[in-house]
Amino acid sequence: MDKCREITIEPMVEGDIEESVKLINAAMNEDEADWARETFELYFKSRKQGIDSGREYYLWRDDGKIYGLVGLHRYVWGPGENVWLSWFAVHPERQKEGVGGLLLDSIKEKAVQKGYRKLFVETYSGDTFEKARSFYKGKGFSEVGRIENYLPDGSSMIVFGLNIG
Ligand SMILES: CC(C)(COP(=O)(O)OP(=O)(O)OC[C@H]1O[C@@H](n2cnc3c(N)ncnc32)[C@H](O)[C@@H]1OP(=O)(O)O)[C@@H](O)C(=O)NCCC(=O)NCCS
Repeated sequence: MDKCREITIEPMVEGDIEESVKLINAAMNEDEADWARETFELYFKSRKQGIDSGREYYLWRDDGKIYGLVGLHRYVWGPGENVWLSWFAVHPERQKEGVGGLLLDSIKEKAVQKGYRKLFVETYSGDTFEKARSFYKGKGFSEVGRIENYLPDGSSMIVFGLNIG
């Protein structure tokens, strides 16, 4: 990846759910994979019924295999300038090559094009998310909020924010 300075992301389709959930399982854990499956199923069910769930998901493939996943999620009732990063993961086989940074650049570009000005991400205090916390800080995000004892294991929710507009 050292030579590659950009990647092309493609919208997720319903047939990508299984492989995407496996990626989340490998990059995070089984609980997150279950929640990801529910989110993706809800997203595609809503779309089929013409309901805008405020979500969109993109994939990065190499040689036909999904190695990267990234999405945007806006609260349909929330301020129009705010958007959240959603289901962001790089397969462990391809981490630390710059893929995550390129995925973030691609999704930031989409977010700016859509008129969003503030990008937030919900992450957690546990070991699973240590790489993510260090990654976000390295990309200019700062901690803007925290909810103690948010996950069943007692982890806190940490919200990082970045101005993009
Ligand atoms: C967070 C995550 C998406 C980052 O993906 P990634 O592809 O490893 O990201 P990058 O390679 O762009 O950057 C990761 C680190 O590698 C370094 N790096 C980038 N290119 C590199 C290269 N060619 N060689 C060595 N290191 C490199 C970066 O400086 C960065 O360091 P930092 O974390 O200390 O800031 C990935 O770690 C992940 O999937 N984590 C588990 C899932 C998760 O927690 N997702 C977020 C939920 S909120």
